[in-house]
Amino acid sequence: QTGMFTYDPGFTSTASCDSGLTYIDGDEGVLLHRGYPIGQLAEQSSFMEVSYLLLNGELPSKAELDEFTRTITRHTMVHEQLTTFYRGFRRDAHPMAIMCGVVGALSAFYHDSTDINDPVQRKIASHRLIAKMPTIAAMAYKYSAGQPFVYPRNDLSYTANFLRMTFSVPAEEYVPDPVIVDAMDKIFILHADHEQNASTSTVRLAGSSGANPFACIAAGIACLWGPAHGGANEAALNMLREIGTVDRIPEYIARAKNKDDPFRLMGFGHRVYKNYDPRATVMQKTAEDVLRVMGVTDPIFDVARQLEKIALSDEYFIEKKLFPNVDFYSGVILSAIGFPTEMFTVLFALARTVGWVAQWNEMISDPAQKIGRPRQLYTGPTQRDYVPVDKR
Ligand code: SDX
Repeated sequence: QTGMFTYDPGFTSTASCDSGLTYIDGDEGVLLHRGYPIGQLAEQSSFMEVSYLLLNGELPSKAELDEFTRTITRHTMVHEQLTTFYRGFRRDAHPMAIMCGVVGALSAFYHDSTDINDPVQRKIASHRLIAKMPTIAAMAYKYSAGQPFVYPRNDLSYTANFLRMTFSVPAEEYVPDPVIVDAMDKIFILHADHEQNASTSTVRLAGSSGANPFACIAAGIACLWGPAHGGANEAALNMLREIGTVDRIPEYIARAKNKDDPFRLMGFGHRVYKNYDPRATVMQKTAEDVLRVMGVTDPIFDVARQLEKIALSDEYFIEKKLFPNVDFYSGVILSAIGFPTEMFTVLFALARTVGWVAQWNEMISDPAQKIGRPRQLYTGPTQRDYVPVDKR
């Protein structure tokens, strides 16, 4: 209860923590950030404004938003020495492997300002992480593509800056179409936070020991990489490409329903949503907009639409309440914009950093907060005496 309203989640809560950031009603397909529906935020807000909302609890005034945006913009540079970390990776290293390493390494550069008991230093660390993730992500892409790093520019918006750092080369400046910038910003909003998912719980558990926020976010990145979680966007597009044509869909639907086959429909199903993921709704419409503006007819999008239609009319998916989730359509958009599939989860991590940081702050600033210590149901042998090896 926050005094404003009380949500009855309709199930015996197995809550791991109190949080006021994000509310999900899985049965109704509702997602609210500080009370605001995700559909309204995606259509009317910006990633910077949603970041401010998640961090501070209220939508900013114009002056507050300008000040926040200016602060973030002016922290987008990374320490020049950080660039040497990239050269230690093989060129074909997965960008998520690079993100895990480089973000964790930020601890070595900012240990002097990570007294997590000081709200001012928590705020500085939070802004640094949100500001530097696009630069670090773009550098991971540049390194894997064998292209020179592109420095951030303060005259560009957060999202346009990221797109320019990713796709500009010395020989040719990349000037993103406003529709592409808007689509990318929407994708960042849709991925910003999502209650106590696996990677956010990882960040909270790591943070509960008092570890510095850079190391905690690196732990969250590692957890997000899994194909059952944030890695699903890369796996979903790879699956759609493997299916290739509409006539091969029934074969994959059958495999997904076969208990003896480990194959799952990637981008489908969710631990909490037993209804349509509201983010997938916005993502599908954004995919249509981007493909139309770019004049791209991507057969993979047709496969995705048909796959969704067939699955949602199949009794297996109906009975088990499996719907498209945030990862089902995102790859179609990201691929149309020009990202390789290996970058998809990096983009998820870039956007989710604001949620991780907001959740970490919420936990650390609670004076009653204690170290996380999950328990277990012991299933091993009962106590027994040691037997020397020559008697075994
Ligand atoms: C994200 O938690 C979050 O909020 C995460 C996230 C976020 O924003 O942080 O929303 C982001 O991770 C979205 C999910 C992305 N992952 C995928 O798209 C991978 C494919 N989906 C599945 O692996 C699966 O749906 C999970 C992992 C997402 C959920 O798995 P669960 O917890 O087993 O789901 P469930 O309990 O609802 O499953 C019910 C049944 C099970 O069968 P039975 O045990 O009842 O026989 O449905 C089956 C599952 O095996 N099932 C699927 C399926 N997803 C679930 N069968 C085929 N294809 C699928 N995709």
